[in-house]
Amino acid sequence: MRPTGAPPWRWPSSPSPGRNPTPVKRGMKVFVTRTLPGKALDRLRERGLEVEVHRGLFLPKAELLKRVEGAVGLIPTVEDRIDAEVMDRAKGLKVIACYSVGVDHVDLEAARERGIRVTHTPGVLTEATADLTLALLLAVARRVVEGAAYARDGLWRAWHPELLLGLDLQGLTLGLVGMGRIGQAVAKRALAFGMRVVYHARTPKPLPYPFLSLEELLKEADVVSLHTPLTPETHRLLNRERLFAMKRGAILINTARGALVDTEALVEALRGHLFGAGLDVTDPEPLPQDHPLYRLPNAVITPHIGSAGRTTRERMAEVAVENLLAVLEGREPPNPVV
Ligand code: DGY
Repeated sequence: MRPTGAPPWRWPSSPSPGRNPTPVKRGMKVFVTRTLPGKALDRLRERGLEVEVHRGLFLPKAELLKRVEGAVGLIPTVEDRIDAEVMDRAKGLKVIACYSVGVDHVDLEAARERGIRVTHTPGVLTEATADLTLALLLAVARRVVEGAAYARDGLWRAWHPELLLGLDLQGLTLGLVGMGRIGQAVAKRALAFGMRVVYHARTPKPLPYPFLSLEELLKEADVVSLHTPLTPETHRLLNRERLFAMKRGAILINTARGALVDTEALVEALRGHLFGAGLDVTDPEPLPQDHPLYRLPNAVITPHIGSAGRTTRERMAEVAVENLLAVLEGREPPNPVV
């Protein structure tokens, strides 16, 4: 479980110079922290690299520390916290090729200081994540999960004009916080549902949607959807004050990172102020089974599956492998972060 509280990482102040590239040699070790769908890892094996894959569901820190020893390349998932201790254990580590677009689980400054390159997988998961954002929005607005439980639990005895009334998306204002690739893909889908789109980002973009300050957006939007990376600046962006500054009866959707939101304050806001929330990410993650969010009928929670389309996940593996090989071969990786 990822701890709550202040993030462990620091943002890099300047690009990494990179450790000296070493030609890929037979037997060099790459450690992959989970099994990955598809055949991308075969490419590493074909190059003579020794690919060690952790096959369990969890990877405790102590085991990560042991298994990373001797690795020149590491492919971690969002659940692996890659801090200075891990980097120091892997003395010859040259590249951390994240199997994710988000890199908040990596201490980027520590990587930069050690000359370790960090890469990620932007682009390939945009559409899948936007799809799940709309799935959560529809589920919350039209009370799909409540309705399914109602039917399955034998409570459906008659049609009634007032049964499980939800919100019509047509005509609602969607406020996107963060307007990168995923935010823009969500906007396109929202337009098809007849929604009006407004957004907030660090700087306005040449887009056909009104740019608002975060405070204006929270006041105007019927639905707020988060699509911004987790950084020291965005940690708990939606704190108590901002959650309660949202319109009464609004919906919050989060498919970005759990720590963008103050979870305790969200629980309170869902007990009367907000219509509901759709969360693919939480803080902490995963949520303990007895967490109050699970007892709120207006909270729909999915287990961080935004990018979990088979093709998307296979492509993420291909991108991570290409980034990793590029660094080991002394080429500039296609998707560098550090
Ligand atoms: C990411 O890529 O950052 C997602 O959270 C997991 O795919």
